[in-house]
Amino acid sequence: SVPVITIDGPSASGKGTVAAIVAQRLGFHYLDSGSLYRLLALHARRQGVAWHDEPALAELAGSLPAAFVQGAVLLDGNDVSMEIRAEEIGIGASKVAALPAVRAALLQRQRAFGVAPGLVTDGRDMGSVVFPQAAVKIFLTASADERASRRYKQLIGKGESANLPQIKQDIIDRDSRDAARAVAPLRQEPDAFLLDTTELTIDQAVDTVLRRFGQ
Ligand code: CDP
Repeated sequence: SVPVITIDGPSASGKGTVAAIVAQRLGFHYLDSGSLYRLLALHARRQGVAWHDEPALAELAGSLPAAFVQGAVLLDGNDVSMEIRAEEIGIGASKVAALPAVRAALLQRQRAFGVAPGLVTDGRDMGSVVFPQAAVKIFLTASADERASRRYKQLIGKGESANLPQIKQDIIDRDSRDAARAVAPLRQEPDAFLLDTTELTIDQAVDTVLRRFGQ
């Protein structure tokens, strides 16, 4: 079977950055599973579907007009890479992600990324639910203060306004919602390696993941 590396963890821990670099180094495919939930939240908003309407959301998820082209995220053929990163859409993503019918509707779509030569994927349940047979499972985290400050710098870097205490509160709220839900709650699985990046550079985190993979 195809080698899979899963990197799960809380919001703004840097899993996406690390996962994308590891994928590039190995020449593997990369799936940012959170972008699917973000795309669904955006799609629902545009279609006038509420973020708690489970049957309607499951239907939208089943036929989500999404595509990943050269690092860009497309919805209905339009590049929405920037739009799906908005904090508001992140909140919507964590709301729609709590609904079991939504998760079920997106499951096969995620598994379809597991093709040769291999896959690196990040999210909340990549190692527990989507790719339980993964060769390497990482639980990547950092302190809440460090994660808030990373997201803050990211927003400022994009020229957006940002309020650090507000960002920290949003991160804590989203993590508690992700951890408290009944399906695929955010947690470190027993077979996942804990990688705390509070004091690590991106390169150090990348090297740790590659070493676990035997590279
Ligand atoms: O970038 P950040 O870590 O803040 O968020 P993300 O990875 O894009 O995920 C956005 C939201 O989607 C999360 O808060 C989760 O509720 C949900 N999600 C999920 O439930 N399962 C996944 N595999 C990935 C994301």
